[in-house]
Amino acid sequence: MVTTVSRLREIQMAIVGAGPHALTLVTHMLQKRQEMRGKFVVFDPSGGWLSQWSAAFGAQEIPHLRSPAVHHPDPDPYALRRFAENRPQELFPPYDLPGTKLFEDFCRETIARWQLENTVEQAKVTRVEPLGKRGFRLELDGERRVMARRVVMAMGGGRPSLPDWVEKIQTPYPSDRLCHSLAIDLRQMALRGDRVLIIGGGLTSGHLAIGALEGGATVTLMVKRQLQEKLFDADPGWLGPKYLKGFAAEADWQRRWELIQQARNGGSMTPAVVTRLRRESRNGRLGIYEECQVVEAAWNQGEWQIICNNGAEYTCDRIWVATGTKLDVMAEPLFADILEAYPIPIIQGLPVLDEHLRWPGCELFIMGGLAALQVGPVARNLSGARMACDRIQPALTKATVPKSFSRWH
Ligand SMILES: Cc1cc2nc3c(=O)[nH]c(=O)nc-3n(C[C@H](O)[C@H](O)[C@H](O)COP(=O)(O)OP(=O)(O)OC[C@H]3O[C@@H](n4cnc5c(N)ncnc54)[C@H](O)[C@@H]3O)c2cc1C
Ligand SMILES: NC(=O)c1ccc[n+]([C@@H]2O[C@H](COP(=O)([O-])OP(=O)(O)OC[C@H]3O[C@@H](n4cnc5c(N)ncnc54)[C@H](OP(=O)(O)O)[C@@H]3O)[C@@H](O)[C@H]2O)c1
Repeated sequence: MVTTVSRLREIQMAIVGAGPHALTLVTHMLQKRQEMRGKFVVFDPSGGWLSQWSAAFGAQEIPHLRSPAVHHPDPDPYALRRFAENRPQELFPPYDLPGTKLFEDFCRETIARWQLENTVEQAKVTRVEPLGKRGFRLELDGERRVMARRVVMAMGGGRPSLPDWVEKIQTPYPSDRLCHSLAIDLRQMALRGDRVLIIGGGLTSGHLAIGALEGGATVTLMVKRQLQEKLFDADPGWLGPKYLKGFAAEADWQRRWELIQQARNGGSMTPAVVTRLRRESRNGRLGIYEECQVVEAAWNQGEWQIICNNGAEYTCDRIWVATGTKLDVMAEPLFADILEAYPIPIIQGLPVLDEHLRWPGCELFIMGGLAALQVGPVARNLSGARMACDRIQPALTKATVPKSFSRWH
């Protein structure tokens, strides 16, 4: 066993995922320690940076970000604003929200400026095995293996969360007639004349509804509460001490989880999107059913027959469930070996990490929504990436690993 391990390619730091969080980490790390160049490898099945981000913005035809221009992967908060000097029309009100293309061009420029074009290796990480003091053995695409002294998990958003009634549908149906939002690409769909039912009150529902209307469909939006209108996912007070001081002082992890839920308060749409939807509703092209939920759906003679919890019955051609994603470290196979070797408390699917977002007992770090018990309600957002870097960075720059690792330096 030891002989096999010693022959494997050795990496100082493996980063799993090449989304905005990983990019933020890498630029911040290089800014602090140029000597890290060449000592980390980013793995992503796409082989490039931000592929999932670009795919999601393209598929939902999202015109601009929800977050203001200071939130992006470069360490200089004003870098995007400077980049946009000659493109002011691509910063949208009310708080200079970057246009989708502007943001992507900026990220491309950032990747080039930090010479990161060739740092993403095309591979899906299929297993992360902790080997004690020897670090981790990573399995790539179920075949190759590499050794890494440290691992950063930056894999993004979790698994699709589906309403219970979807699992209970008895009748067979064509797979394209009921889709989770992650599987929808508005650019590829012929919707003219179709009746589309969209479930969920988050911004994804809003964009999909607008896209379907523009594609010529008749749309019904079904929301289990009232539509929530919010500029951002969480109040900007969660970006600094205003709320984070109290959050950090909360020693009860379950209570912290509750604070996160309260701060995000489920799904919400921006005022601009709600205004557009209300207008479409007044014009009769969009039905908005609030405080309404599906209890049963059946595919019958080429259409969906829906029964709602208020007794209403309804027919449509397509159902899109924009019900978000669920983050659960226990359900993610990549964490199985870590959980077994280093059992730690898990609160509602979120691991209790140390202050550096490190899995207690080993040199594995987590960015994104799974780090929310430490970072707070914006952990999964672009702002959360920067906050995660501020925590991970000191642990990376300090020699926190045993001497037996010194050969890796
Ligand atoms: C449609 C949409 C719009 C959003 N808009 C905003 C916004 O405007 N502002 C904001 O602050 N936040 C926004 N968010 C929230 C958040 O910023 C994004 O979800 C962002 O993409 C998160 O970055 P990430 O790097 O954590 O994850 P991702 O962008 O999902 O990147 C993770 C990467 O990990 C890779 N990966 C996954 N598993 C593996 C594996 N086993 N091996 C190797 N690689 C793997 C994936 O291929 C992916 O490329 C938005 C989210 C969505 C869904
Ligand atoms: N930049 C952009 O323009 C943009 C575009 C899209 C998304 N985003 C971001 O992406 C993230 C995810 O957004 P999202 O809209 O995909 O997910 P989301 O914000 O988690 O919203 C999911 C919605 O589905 C509802 N829901 C969940 N389970 C349900 C069920 N069983 N039955 C009925 N409804 C159910 C939720 O209801 P409750 O509200 O009652 O919980 C919520 O309204 C957010 O951070 C968002 O800001 C950004």
